[in-house]
Amino acid sequence: MPELTIPNITLHDGVEIPQLGLGVVHVPPEEAQGVVEDALDVGYRHIDTAASYRSEAAVGAALAASDLSREEVFVTTRLWNAEQSYDSTLKAFEATLDRLGFEHVDLCLIHWPVLSESRSLNTWRASERILEEGRARTIGVSNCRVEDLERLEAETDTRPTVHQVELHSRLQQVELRRLHAEYRIVTGAWSPLAQRDLLADETIGEIAVRHGKSPAQTILRWHVQLGNVAIPKSVTAERIRENIEIFDFKLSKEEMATISEADAAMATGRTVFPASGGAGRI
Ligand SMILES: NC(=O)c1ccc[n+]([C@@H]2O[C@H](COP(=O)([O-])OP(=O)(O)OC[C@H]3O[C@@H](n4cnc5c(N)ncnc54)[C@H](OP(=O)(O)O)[C@@H]3O)[C@@H](O)[C@H]2O)c1
Repeated sequence: MPELTIPNITLHDGVEIPQLGLGVVHVPPEEAQGVVEDALDVGYRHIDTAASYRSEAAVGAALAASDLSREEVFVTTRLWNAEQSYDSTLKAFEATLDRLGFEHVDLCLIHWPVLSESRSLNTWRASERILEEGRARTIGVSNCRVEDLERLEAETDTRPTVHQVELHSRLQQVELRRLHAEYRIVTGAWSPLAQRDLLADETIGEIAVRHGKSPAQTILRWHVQLGNVAIPKSVTAERIRENIEIFDFKLSKEEMATISEADAAMATGRTVFPASGGAGRI
């Protein structure tokens, strides 16, 4: 079966990130290796994991079992909330590398900003050190508000290259995406399929039929054309393959607008958990 090629986006520090990756949240650790192997077999070169997903060891094992070199696969991981602050972040990151069996990750994200501003800033300073030491090729954040990004910009020396947030046509994150464009931060879209909620959408279904594609492929194509990095999760081999087969068609300008506008009543420019710091939610 021929492999599919996924385009890269160049981040503001020059690192290249594949625009589509496989997310592995809620994949039981004992299944995760097989799922990641399926994805690598059909051409995925970007895997999105996190310390809190308990799948880092399986991701590392899948890569080790493949014919691919470490350099051929982009691996993102996230530092969990409980480990935030300078020293605890460095210690937690060591454990992440041990579980993955890697000397470095490609992208290291802070999973959620925490309520204490100094703790979040110290966690970011630890991420900067991880970057300087070459143990992450690039660093970013997740689930921030506009003011969190502005504070990082004002008070630290390194600008995140990626900001990963919940994003789909029903939660379009307009204000954040505007700031991302200004700062040249790439938008990572988590729950890009709205955890299946969008798959029965009539408008998306009509556009999908026109292109001979599935609703999931149509939504993922919408993400790609917006310039997002999308990381759909699936444990199902056929869907893993389906989700990558989105680089052989193009939505028209009108179709892009229709998808965005059809959900305009529900879409907002806010972050999902503006004040909570997201504790507990992965
Ligand atoms: N930074 C953060 O705080 C954060 C938070 C949440 C998630 N994430 C990341 O984002 C990734 C994706 O988010 P998510 O899992 O919440 O939501 P999602 O990718 O929008 O949806 C996943 C669901 O869609 C189904 N699915 C996938 N492809 C499909 C297809 N082609 N047709 C029909 N159903 C399909 C999956 O089913 P099956 O698995 O049964 O096939 C699963 O139930 C996660 O894995 C994680 O890596 C990050």
